[in-house]
Amino acid sequence: MKTIKDQDCTIYAGEGSLSQLQGEVARYLAAEPDATCVVLCEQAAAKKIFPVLLRACPSLRRCKRYFLPATEAQKHIETLLPLWKQWADDKLDRKTLVINLGGGVLCDMGGFAASLFKRGLPFINIPTTLLAMADASAGGKTAVDLGEIKNILGSFNRPRAVFVDPVFLKTLPAREMLSGMAEILKMQCICRTDFSVQRAEKIFTDPEYLNEALLFAIKNKALITQQDFKEENIRKTLNFGHTFGHAFEALALRKKHPISHGEAVAHGMVCELYLSCRKCGFTRARFESFARLINARYGSFTYTEKDIPALLNYMVNDKKNKGRKIYPVLLSDWGKCVFDKAVFPLVIEKTLHDNTKKNGRYNA
Ligand code: GLY
Repeated sequence: MKTIKDQDCTIYAGEGSLSQLQGEVARYLAAEPDATCVVLCEQAAAKKIFPVLLRACPSLRRCKRYFLPATEAQKHIETLLPLWKQWADDKLDRKTLVINLGGGVLCDMGGFAASLFKRGLPFINIPTTLLAMADASAGGKTAVDLGEIKNILGSFNRPRAVFVDPVFLKTLPAREMLSGMAEILKMQCICRTDFSVQRAEKIFTDPEYLNEALLFAIKNKALITQQDFKEENIRKTLNFGHTFGHAFEALALRKKHPISHGEAVAHGMVCELYLSCRKCGFTRARFESFARLINARYGSFTYTEKDIPALLNYMVNDKKNKGRKIYPVLLSDWGKCVFDKAVFPLVIEKTLHDNTKKNGRYNA
C-alpha cells in the first residue's frame, strides 16, 4: 500500500488500503468527541459494495447510512434534495463525517452534497470503480450537472482522505474497467514524455501494468492538484479529451444510448489529438497509432452531420471557455500540453465533420 499526500488529504492506494479506514475514522472521532459519521452509498451497487466496507471497518455498522441514486442521468441537484432533507431531519451537523462509497458520479455528488450542507461537512471518498479511483475521487472537485451541461455546479473541496482499494475491482464489469482505463491512459498521454502506444496498450492486457499505471495516475494527479488546486493553470491539462468527450457523453445521453465517461474521453482524446496535429505540430503518425489503439479498444463513436450543431453547442457551453472561444487541451508532443490556445467554433466544427466523413473511424 502507498500513501500519497495532496495537501491535507491523504490518499491510501493499493491492496489492503481499506484496512486503514477504521483508524482514520477513529482518529477523527477522537479529535471531535461529539461528532458522528455517516455513510453515503451508491444505491445501485449497494448490495455488492456495502458489505465490503463493513468487513474492512466493522465499527461503521453503527453509523447511519444513506443510499443515493447516482447514475449520469441522475447527476442533478434534484436528486440531492431528498437527501439534504433527510440529513436535516437526522440533525447532521458540521462535524459529521460523510463517507462516500461508490463510483465517480457518487463521489462527485457526495462531495457536492457534503460541501453545501450547513456550508460544509468533512468527507472521505472510497471509490469503487476504476474511473473513480483514477480520477474522480481525489483532487477535490465536486459537481452535479445542470440540465445537459456537465459538472457546471460544483465546488473545490478536498476530501480528508481517499481509500483506493482494488478489492472493489474484482467484480467490476468489463465495460466499467474500460471506462477507467481511458482516464489512466489520459494521464500517461499528458504526463509521460516517453509515452508509447505499445506500452500503453498493456493497460488493457496486463493487470500488473494496469496497477502500476493506476498508481502513476493517482500520484501525478496529486502532484498537479497540489500546484494548482483551482484549475487556473496546469490542472487544466487534466481536461485532455474532455472538451469533445463531455459533448459526446451528453449527446449519447440525450439519444438515450448512454456511453460511459471513459469511452467519451477516449474518443475525445482522439479528436483533440487530431486538432493538435493541425494547431500544435503533433505528428500525424503518432495521432494515427493512438487512434488505432482507441478504435481497437473502444470501437468508434458514431454521430451524423445533423448532430454537429448540438455537439458544438455543448462545447461552447464548456465551463473552461472564455466567451465563445473553445479551449480544448492540445498536445504538441506526448507529455507536452498546450491548454490556453483558443480554438474558434468553426475549426471545431471542421474536426467534427472530418470525423463523420470517416464514418466515425479516425484512422486514415
Ligand atoms: N477530473 C479532472 C480534475 O480533477 O481536474
